[in-house]
Amino acid sequence: MTKEELQPPEGWVDGMVPTMNGTGFMFERIDAYAEEFIEYSGGIDDEVLDMGCAYGVATISALQAGARVRACDLDERHIEILESRVPKELRANLTCQQAQLPDVDLPADHFGAIFCSRVFHFLSGDDIDASTRNMFRWMRPGGKLYIVADTPYGIWRNFIPTWEANYDRGERWPGWMEPAMDYLPYGPSGKGKHPPFMNLQDPDLLARTCTEAGFNVQRATFIARPDFGEKGRMDGRENCGVLAIKPA
Ligand SMILES: C[S@@+](CC[C@H](N)C(=O)[O-])C[C@H]1O[C@@H](n2cnc3c(N)ncnc32)[C@H](O)[C@@H]1O
Repeated sequence: MTKEELQPPEGWVDGMVPTMNGTGFMFERIDAYAEEFIEYSGGIDDEVLDMGCAYGVATISALQAGARVRACDLDERHIEILESRVPKELRANLTCQQAQLPDVDLPADHFGAIFCSRVFHFLSGDDIDASTRNMFRWMRPGGKLYIVADTPYGIWRNFIPTWEANYDRGERWPGWMEPAMDYLPYGPSGKGKHPPFMNLQDPDLLARTCTEAGFNVQRATFIARPDFGEKGRMDGRENCGVLAIKPA
């Protein structure tokens, strides 16, 4: 990309930078799971993985905290922009790799921590399970996995009745929402691309996925996103996250 093209699309919501491939936004305001990943990564010698890094909000902070980071994303343009933003003195600690979950060529028993924020809701259920099993393989024993995802309780709240009915029927993936844009309370923005489907999560689903892959779940919670603004906010359950550990 030329220097001029090395810019993300212009945003229309404060603190949210649109992706180039219709997978929502990178959030400039990080949540408690991202904060913990960054702090933990800065204190260990092992390389850490930021999967679905977009333009590098977590990667760059982790590098600044002293971490060695492998930054992966589906979209090579996101990675190019990320690379252009990393201060020269930190570049030796960064490895970038184009990657599409679930199957990525990454070393086994290698990473001290893995962060995957707001990517799983773009995957099918089978791909979520396969991705988490692969993360288990890539993680060093004792390593920490941080996953964050969208729930039905934020911008997707029109989906709540379907979600509840799916839950009552015992469906394995109650958050399967297709076509996704039909459930936005205010309709698509008309700007940029949109995901064809979403697979919304909650703390119990994230915990189940991690447990089935072999991790020990330390914490699985809802995450409040007051910065979503009037249109996106609901009741403090707008996102969800899990912290899970690979047994030593
Ligand atoms: C909503 S953004 C999240 C960015 C950042 N992690 C955050 O939490 O703000 C989703 C990012 O995941 C990437 N992505 C989507 N599907 C992916 C997949 N199957 N494998 C790897 N990256 C993916 C997108 O290209 C995009 O950069």
